[in-house]
Amino acid sequence: ASAARAAAAGAETLDELRAILERFDGCALKATASRTVFADGTPGARVMLVGEAPGREEDLSGLPFVGRSGQLLDRMLAAIGLDRSSAYIANVIPWRPPGNRTPTPQETETCLPFIRRQIELAEPDVLVALGGAAAQTLFRAKEGILRLRGRWLDYDAGPRRIKAIATLHPAYLLRSPAQKKFAWRDLKAIRRALDGE
Ligand code: URA
Repeated sequence: ASAARAAAAGAETLDELRAILERFDGCALKATASRTVFADGTPGARVMLVGEAPGREEDLSGLPFVGRSGQLLDRMLAAIGLDRSSAYIANVIPWRPPGNRTPTPQETETCLPFIRRQIELAEPDVLVALGGAAAQTLFRAKEGILRLRGRWLDYDAGPRRIKAIATLHPAYLLRSPAQKKFAWRDLKAIRRALDGE
């Protein structure tokens, strides 16, 4: 993790960070992944969304959230007048875990300095953690997502504080559509924050 911290701190731009990740050898997940999945959308967009880790489609395409979860994420964004070009999208872990298994705590810790640096460099106004794994990692929280979601926090991005919120992961919403009402509340809260209300 200290090698990751030093490597991440060396990036002054998002392009540099991507290049550093593509060279980084300190995470075993990289050996089994097809490629590094860095980001989609527009760097510098007002909203940044962070998921857990790439799945099969993302590993093949090199872009986050392009499979079924991603299609639902696009609809969630559209519901509040956003699309991929008006957001910036990444994951806590940029390499697909084999068979989509849950990343180990050690793998997550290794990758944390990179996503933290990515958030600092992207400078969003609003940071959205998608699902429990991203929320617990980014917000250093222990509660489950049903408790964490919908509450505004201050995310500490080095010299800046960023308004942050967790919501339900689209993959979870695909399995439990009755929970969409909670995600919808969170999306409306995000819209209001962007509108400065
Ligand atoms: N789920 C995630 O958390 N991230 C992706 O990029 C795709 C699915």
